[in-house]
Amino acid sequence: APSQLLAGVKLMLTAGPTREALDPVRFISNHSSGKMGYALAAAAQQMGAEVTLVSGPVALATPNGVTRINVESATQMHAAVMQDIKHQQIFIACAAVADYSPKQIAEHKIKKTSQDALVIELTKNPDIVADVAAGTNKPFTVGFAAETQGVAHYAQDKLKRKKLDMIAANNVAAQNQGFNSDHNALSVFWPNGHTELPLAEKTTLATHLLTLIAEQYHDTNRA
Ligand code: PMT
Repeated sequence: APSQLLAGVKLMLTAGPTREALDPVRFISNHSSGKMGYALAAAAQQMGAEVTLVSGPVALATPNGVTRINVESATQMHAAVMQDIKHQQIFIACAAVADYSPKQIAEHKIKKTSQDALVIELTKNPDIVADVAAGTNKPFTVGFAAETQGVAHYAQDKLKRKKLDMIAANNVAAQNQGFNSDHNALSVFWPNGHTELPLAEKTTLATHLLTLIAEQYHDTNRA
């Protein structure tokens, strides 16, 4: 059994995509499968944490011993996280949350017209991980960064701007890793450190990342 580095620690994470409705039958979403976040949830539970998984729509089974809260939109995910965050000691944002959603959700199915162009106006969603990190008594907060270029630069920018304790960056343009793959590679940054977790199965990476998180979490709490 993996060592109980997170024994008794309350850990919440987000996983999967969000769906932003356009009308009763259509939505804007992305290719997140939930595999990375679910692997983290399972590994955290095995390391002794009390795990709450706030999940967008995915086709995965809930890991043993994990409490799962299902949501669809970014707004719903934000509400589910904020409702319980004050009880959490670690928060990991692995979900691929839509940055924008349609300004209006049409009450009825949008009709095809004779026009060739259709314009959809979008409005910014709340930033879940930034709101968690801005709270008083905030948990140890870990973000992800999905980048297609300048991975280290944009990740370190997100670490600072969103006031995170750690960020795990992945290059989602690279083949055979990132969205929907069983594999991934992560560049992990925290305020005074950095490490590379090379290409591996998401289940293996999850254990490595949580070991780093546990070390930094216990260090921060000791300081
Ligand atoms: O689900 P899989 O198929 O296994 O794929 C895994 C993954 C590629 C989705 C995962 O490894 C990953 O990178 N997740 C973060 C995806 C993302 O939305 O990254 P971002 O760089 O756009 O967002 C930065 C951080 O802010 C993330 O922690 C994100 O969860 C968070 N965020 C973003 C927007 C928002 N409104 N609220 C947020 O909390």
